[in-house]
Amino acid sequence: MSLCHSKKFRLLLLAALVCAATARGLSHEEAQQLWGARTRAASAAAAARPLRYLTFKNFDANETLRSAAARAGIRVGAALAVAHLQNASDPLFSRTAAEEFNLAVAENECKYWSTEPTRDNFTTSNCSVVVDTMRAAGGAARLHNYAWAGANPGWLYPKPAYSNATLLGILQNHIARVGGAFAGQVVQTDVINEPFSNTAPPNPETHDLYLKPMPPWYPAIRDYIPLALEAARAADPTSLRYINDYGAEDLGVKSSLVYNFSRGLVAASPGLLQGIGLQMHVDVDAYPDPIEVAANMKRLGELGLKVSVTEMDVRCTPPCGADRLALQAKIYGDVVEACLNNSGVCEGVVTWGVTDAFSWLWDFENPHHEDMQPLLFDVRYGKKPAYYEVLAVLQMAAERRAAPQACRDRFLWPFSAASIWNSPIGAGATYLPAGIYSTELPTEIHNDQVRFQRAKPPA
Ligand code: XIL
Repeated sequence: MSLCHSKKFRLLLLAALVCAATARGLSHEEAQQLWGARTRAASAAAAARPLRYLTFKNFDANETLRSAAARAGIRVGAALAVAHLQNASDPLFSRTAAEEFNLAVAENECKYWSTEPTRDNFTTSNCSVVVDTMRAAGGAARLHNYAWAGANPGWLYPKPAYSNATLLGILQNHIARVGGAFAGQVVQTDVINEPFSNTAPPNPETHDLYLKPMPPWYPAIRDYIPLALEAARAADPTSLRYINDYGAEDLGVKSSLVYNFSRGLVAASPGLLQGIGLQMHVDVDAYPDPIEVAANMKRLGELGLKVSVTEMDVRCTPPCGADRLALQAKIYGDVVEACLNNSGVCEGVVTWGVTDAFSWLWDFENPHHEDMQPLLFDVRYGKKPAYYEVLAVLQMAAERRAAPQACRDRFLWPFSAASIWNSPIGAGATYLPAGIYSTELPTEIHNDQVRFQRAKPPA
């Protein structure tokens, strides 16, 4: 029998197609639509200020990220792929992962099609490699993810489709088994990945205020989010239950949807949802204003939720010379600072990969297969300006944290963006254009609505 006639091969092909068609992130075009105009001013300002690692007098280039992050009180993580961890001819990958980071997430190995490739047949060994490797190195792991439109095996889409009740049972069983396998071993779990609508409410496809279609789960299972969160709590009560999404990092339509949805869920079922993941796939040419990112984290924190930056990379479309790499460094630094300025709310920052040699952006929306140089280490594991900037920001925060409170209040708070935001003079949204940044749902968000509708519709 030829390869193409093999049933297994055809199933795999179907699964690959389904995944390719539905796996999402924020494309270059969408990032431009979302942030391009609003961030031109921010990047002009960023270009005018120096890199912190060149000016911070106590900068120690030899400390590791994980050491500085621990001193600063957050985690610093990376998405890891088993193929790279196990590649004996590239020992720098494992070494860099273990030495520099203290949080790991499997890039693909804990997703649905890896962990339940055929119905009720669970294979968690590759997912375990990532979790165990980081735990053995003294770090922690996050689990990604249970319910998503991407990375689903073909068997989830039979014709005719499963009944809604059967689908719910399938999802609950998946969560019970995978969550149970890692109970007590992971600190955060992306229970739901990328559920939120990119359009202003209601989403015309689902008539839902907040959610976009997420086949096969939604709209088939109307309450799939609380039901999945409940299943996750039963499987592992200790891992913090997150919803993770892209394009909702700043103060815009989508982040307001996330905020309002979360507020409703927290009120209806206290303790069920515990965290919001801000993916942070951004672009040197289009990225969210860090002051808004800090403010978004703060308002989510006020709901009693944690937040994490879960998949950060900063695409630098060629030509990407020293100037653009310096801007990239500042973007990384600013996001880490936004996290640090929300202490007790923001748990850490995870980059979506370790080295530019292996980034998903080699393939995603990249027809000429160019190096987008999105990560902290270059293709030879050299430390980039972005690496040093993150290190400097962590070290500056560690120093502030160690400083006596009185000194901190007197000298440091006036200089931090988030402190100004939090201070009486900042007074919340008063200096932002009225309406657009409202945390309330309807009417005032027409500007963003227009912008979102021009963006490419979600697959
Ligand atoms: C990506 C992986 O990096 C790729 O290897 C895979 O082919 C597709 O998925 N948002 C997410 C991640 O939540 O799971 C995605 O990971 C990137 C976008």
